[in-house]
Amino acid sequence: MACPSSRFLAVALLLAMSSFGASAYPALGGYMPVSNVLEHAEIIKDVMAFADALAGESPDYAKAKKIYMFGAGNSCKSPSSVRTLQGFAQKDLTGESFADKFIAGGFPAKFWDAVILAALDGTADFAGAERTKRVTSLKKLVLGVCNFYASHELEAAIKKVESGDSADGSGSTLAWDEGWAFYYGSEPDGAEAAWGAAVEYDADFAGNGSITVSTEIVAQFNAGLHFVRNSTASLTNAIRARDTIYKLWALTYIRAALKYVELSETSYNGKVHAEGFAWYMAIDGFVASYNASAAKAMRDALDISKPSVPSGTFCAVREQMLQALPAMGLDCKALGTFKDSTLTASCPSVCNVSARCSSQPVGLQQLR
Ligand SMILES: *[C@@H]1O[C@H](CO)[C@@H](O)[C@H](O)[C@H]1NC(C)=O
Ligand SMILES: *[C@@H]1O[C@H](CO)[C@@H](O)[C@H](O)[C@H]1NC(C)=O
Ligand SMILES: *[C@@H]1O[C@H](CO)[C@@H](O)[C@H](O)[C@H]1NC(C)=O
Ligand SMILES: *[C@@H]1O[C@H](CO)[C@@H](O)[C@H](O)[C@H]1NC(C)=O
Repeated sequence: MACPSSRFLAVALLLAMSSFGASAYPALGGYMPVSNVLEHAEIIKDVMAFADALAGESPDYAKAKKIYMFGAGNSCKSPSSVRTLQGFAQKDLTGESFADKFIAGGFPAKFWDAVILAALDGTADFAGAERTKRVTSLKKLVLGVCNFYASHELEAAIKKVESGDSADGSGSTLAWDEGWAFYYGSEPDGAEAAWGAAVEYDADFAGNGSITVSTEIVAQFNAGLHFVRNSTASLTNAIRARDTIYKLWALTYIRAALKYVELSETSYNGKVHAEGFAWYMAIDGFVASYNASAAKAMRDALDISKPSVPSGTFCAVREQMLQALPAMGLDCKALGTFKDSTLTASCPSVCNVSARCSSQPVGLQQLR
């Protein structure tokens, strides 16, 4: 898939305009980039084309695979080079703190590519899997990849601050902006991108002091950008923002996992199961690096090759996950409770908020 050069004319114009001030770059949601990352954000248009190929009763897996591997041409690196979802999935991020947590948690460096190809091809855990399981998993897994790759840009930004490559519009600031672009995407209100999932699970787990990830994370991204800009650079604060962003991601995907393991237990279908399986993969290795047994309990509960989620699974896995939160700098109050939960009331009460919670949510207070 070629990248039409007309796209680059527009980019060149924007770049020329930028010499008159940073306002040449429009806000992406609540985030104010100091570089042009529209082309990067448009990887989400590939995600949408991928989902379109998989729509309906007869998903076109071959077409989706082509988009995954070769791109739909929405996100270009240069007139001759296309950004692809598989490029994200195959990039070896060993040595970066987020990816290294997955590796420490037992994941191979290119685990995303393996699971996405298996779902596309109907092999491994997806051999004989029903359509909704494959399709739903695929639509969420590619967003997990975008989220994972966003971590790469935050890590790259920090490395560039260290090497003094931190002018606005290039180096560290461009990398940090790219992190937001891959997380938030190109669509109004961050629709279709990973940020949209944060909004959804914020609403599902709202109330009683739970953290609203979708707004907190905007503040963390904006703060982090400030700390990777040349005149206000601070490695310590940039790393703090990055690590807080990782914790916020953990809240979103643990919420999704808990919601869907519960729904799968109370009223099983392949779609809710696949939602839980795929969203949890975006954070599984991170959780595992802090608490291998809790991470494995959730992984096993949502194992996509299983035909059902047995009674008792939700309470058991919820208890383990709540016990694992403090090691991640989180707690049950920050996480909240699924608003439509029917099982929580019958679970053992391991969430003692007065024992676990300080007055400020753990881990976010440093930047407040
Ligand atoms: C700021 O930019 C200058 C010149 O481009 C560079 O020498 C310096 O190392 C940068 N400072 C930081 C903190 O990145
Ligand atoms: C807040 O906690 C109280 C006491 O546990 C509970 O009755 C109420 O349903 C919770 N509200 C929400 C929105 O979770
Ligand atoms: C890990 O989670 C288990 C529950 O699965 C809990 O008993 C244990 O205390 C946790 N360990 C750490 C270090 O958080
Ligand atoms: C919760 O923790 C607080 C503080 O450690 C303790 O005083 C209280 O008894 C605990 N409540 C329950 C129900 O375990």
